[in-house]
Amino acid sequence: MDKLVITGKTPLHGEVTISGAKNAAVAILPASLLINGFCTIENLPNISDVKLSCTILEALGAKITWISEHAITIDSRNITSTSAPLDLTSKFRASYYLIGALLGRFKSAEVGMPGGCKLGARPIDQHIKGFEALGATVDVIQGKISAKADDLVGSSIYMDIVSVGATINIMLSAVLAKGTTVIENAAKEPHIVDVANFLNTMGADIRGAGTDVIKINGVEKLNSGFTYSVVPDQIEAGTFMCAAVASRGDLIIKNCITKHLDCISAKLVEMGATIEDLGGDCLRIYCDKRPSKATVKTSPYPGFPTDLQSQIGVVLSTSEGTSIINESIWESRFQYTEELNKMGAKITAQGKTAIFEGVDELYGAPVYASDLRAGAALIIAGICANGTTEVYNLEHIDRGYENIEEKFRKIGAKIERISE
Ligand code: EPU
Repeated sequence: MDKLVITGKTPLHGEVTISGAKNAAVAILPASLLINGFCTIENLPNISDVKLSCTILEALGAKITWISEHAITIDSRNITSTSAPLDLTSKFRASYYLIGALLGRFKSAEVGMPGGCKLGARPIDQHIKGFEALGATVDVIQGKISAKADDLVGSSIYMDIVSVGATINIMLSAVLAKGTTVIENAAKEPHIVDVANFLNTMGADIRGAGTDVIKINGVEKLNSGFTYSVVPDQIEAGTFMCAAVASRGDLIIKNCITKHLDCISAKLVEMGATIEDLGGDCLRIYCDKRPSKATVKTSPYPGFPTDLQSQIGVVLSTSEGTSIINESIWESRFQYTEELNKMGAKITAQGKTAIFEGVDELYGAPVYASDLRAGAALIIAGICANGTTEVYNLEHIDRGYENIEEKFRKIGAKIERISE
């Protein structure tokens, strides 16, 4: 079992370069199955969820050639199966995108129930509602979702809840459907726009991505032989912004889209950080004083992202005064607060609300990541704390952050990965 050993009290200084977005990449990879051809995808983050996605695509018959550490060519001409290996699909959440892509191209898909971070109930009823509206029959039996259709025909779908996964999955299944599909109350996250851009580069006709009404005019044929570069990761950038403020440091964040970060920048500035847009997809963030208390409520984009809730929680744990976080997306996203309390934080979490009484200092302790973002938060806490912190359950962190300890080390953290 690997662990990260962090010697704390090191303000972070220097430059960090953001990788391609995990949540865009894990949708774009299965989306490549829609073409009877090949494409090149660049700026892929080198993370375990991407490697797993590639393994699944290969098991279905796609040919993957790694051109560099961050770029691959996927040839989907000879897909041999529409049934994804259950042992692999159950390992992460984004395997549900295989349903939309396989159904869209082959009118048939069989995929195991998706796994991923345990954040509370993660139903997929809105995905199913979308597939059925296009004419598919969907069955969920013995941990498998199977979807079939004679024909997919465009339809109007009003989402009961704003869902990133369902919005993308319906786009995937509608690209080659007959006629027009309209998704109302669609999610607007930057990775929704990125997946739509990828699909449009492929020859799809999708309009309105980034707003709450997305229109997909079905096309008959898609392009082959194009190259697409994945958008920078909003959440990774936000994670380093929180780390800068929590450690009272000064960072230049390169390869980020500053507009995507407005939702986090606004909150950190309210708390006392200074942020300068340096142009050219770079920003500087610094904070040399104790941040002030804040109230944070997570909500779909452009609201404050749930995927940065635990990282800002670390900032609040040593901020001046009493802060509140209201988590409105996931039921169980406060598990990290128990670990922070082991480090001296004073957090009371109940249901979807947590109250943070800011303490002067955190102290190193052995802590366990319960999910991906909780893991990132515990690393930040270790960097800020007095003494030594050991972070366990690194498999969660490796799913979504590329070379995390290397990136933190380059900006001054004393952090080492040790295999036990
Ligand atoms: N929901 C339903 N029915 C559905 C789908 C969702 O009730 O059919 C509910 C969920 O239970 C949740 C809310 O709707 O309460 C939002 O869920 P959404 O579908 O947007 O989440 P997701 O697609 O499963 C993606 C990200 C998550 C991120 C959420 C919210 C991927 C692979 N995962 O999950 O990312 O938290 O959107 O932004 O894109 C992470 O990266 O750490 C992570 C958990």
